Amino acid sequence: MNQDELKQQVGREAVKYIRPGMVVGLGTGTTVHCLVEALGEHVKNGDLTDVVCVTTSNRTTRQAQSLGIKVEEIDDVDHIDLTIDGADEISDDFQGIKGGGGALLWEKIVSNYSDHVMWIVDESKLVHHLGAFPLPVEVTPYGSQHLFTKLARRGYNPTWRMLPDNSDKFRTHQRNFIIDLHLEDINDPFALHEELIGMVGLIEDGLFLNQVNDILVGTQDGPKFLHA
Ligand code: A5P
Repeated sequence: MNQDELKQQVGREAVKYIRPGMVVGLGTGTTVHCLVEALGEHVKNGDLTDVVCVTTSNRTTRQAQSLGIKVEEIDDVDHIDLTIDGADEISDDFQGIKGGGGALLWEKIVSNYSDHVMWIVDESKLVHHLGAFPLPVEVTPYGSQHLFTKLARRGYNPTWRMLPDNSDKFRTHQRNFIIDLHLEDINDPFALHEELIGMVGLIEDGLFLNQVNDILVGTQDGPKFLHA
């Protein structure tokens, strides 16, 4: 199976954890795209009734609504039972990097206000230590060149996240910029998170620490369930 097929595998498996009547947080990315497709089929068949979703990006909202899945604003639901999201890297001790798709702020908010969090990934996302994947940080545009310089001086090898055609800087749903930190190896993700989040103008980082309860991994031998 190739990577896309492994994503399909976990997307379809993850839908089994959704029960009628649940409020579900839907993540962002290509793996979640497979989950939303599967969820749409169940909603259409009528075997997942009264499921309400909140999403972590406009992309996911559009896909869900196009399939007849009910989507509410996050502040219009009083709780979130289960959030299912992808990840860019997951370490041996179940810490993660997310935000490759630029949705890290909404993803972290939805994750934090969820009773239960599940990540769905193909097996290439499992690593021993975090850091080979560039760590995204979301920053307020005002004064962000100074913040960029500060990150560079600390040796964090920052680059601006650009639009695919390179014409301008990428903007998040909050109209913020993203800076990617090319770190190679993160020794202490907790210390790094504390340092980054303390920087003025830096709104959120893509380190998702002690966030996840369960992980579904797509493997050549079928989906593997890991409890964090
Ligand atoms: C979006 O900002 C990310 O956090 C995604 O969840 C992550 O990049 C995984 O995406 P894929 O499922 O496309 O690999």
